[in-house]
Amino acid sequence: MNRPYIICHMVTSIDGKVTGDFLFQKESAEATEIYYRINRERKADGFICGRVTMEGSFTGGWYPDLNQYNPVEKKSDFTAVERSGFYAIAFDTHGKLGWKSNRIVDPDGDPGYDGAQIVEVLSEDVDDRYLGYLESMKIPYIFAGETFIDVELALFKLKDLMGCETLLLEGGSILDGAFERAGDVDELSLVVAPVIAGKDSKPLFMDADIANFELVKFENEKGNLVLNYKRK
Ligand SMILES: NC(=O)c1ccc[n+]([C@@H]2O[C@H](COP(=O)([O-])OP(=O)(O)OC[C@H]3O[C@@H](n4cnc5c(N)ncnc54)[C@H](OP(=O)(O)O)[C@@H]3O)[C@@H](O)[C@H]2O)c1
Repeated sequence: MNRPYIICHMVTSIDGKVTGDFLFQKESAEATEIYYRINRERKADGFICGRVTMEGSFTGGWYPDLNQYNPVEKKSDFTAVERSGFYAIAFDTHGKLGWKSNRIVDPDGDPGYDGAQIVEVLSEDVDDRYLGYLESMKIPYIFAGETFIDVELALFKLKDLMGCETLLLEGGSILDGAFERAGDVDELSLVVAPVIAGKDSKPLFMDADIANFELVKFENEKGNLVLNYKRK
């Protein structure tokens, strides 16, 4: 395979939703703990999230003052940084994420996230000064499209340039949908919390097409359903 093996790992509600308040109810807390444990156990080369999830989970919307950075006009991949450990890969089309460090600082120190080396996947529609900011932070970046991110190209480069063999795709709904439409979800790892989500919650795969998966594992763990499917 000329791309990493992709495991879409998510907490869902009974009705297959992945965003919204249901995630933060006490009834979902156990599912979240199981989710974090599986994230650690899979020992992937990294995890991938969409820009909105990265903002909500890690950057909190902070953004640097780009006037302080030199523009980098040439749109070429920047991977010549010292690399170690596992990756936190942000699909950030227009370079909207502001990182204060080149590694994830997880508030709970979870070893499945804490210390992960940040990688930015970008389109060419980014401010040249944002590239200068990333380089000054020693954050590697790769380009995968002119104005939007071509999932196939991004994955090809993540294997070819960053050496990723297996990656966890960890949301949210919009990015999972883009991967599924591209046919790039090889396995599903779901923890179903015993909750129905609210009407504003989004589905596991936003705007997905019909696809077939085979159930390979199911377990009841303290009232939460732990499921594994492989693409047929
Ligand atoms: N249940 C779970 O296990 C779980 C896990 C993770 C997150 N979540 C939840 O998911 C929510 C966020 O999900 P979301 O669906 O709103 O957003 P998302 O999938 O996290 O991020 C979507 C954004 O990713 C960027 N992107 C980059 N490449 C893309 C591509 N090829 N196609 C589409 N988008 C691309 C776009 O950013 P631009 O808009 O900048 O172009 C897009 O708006 C959070 O509230 C979080 O709580 C749940």
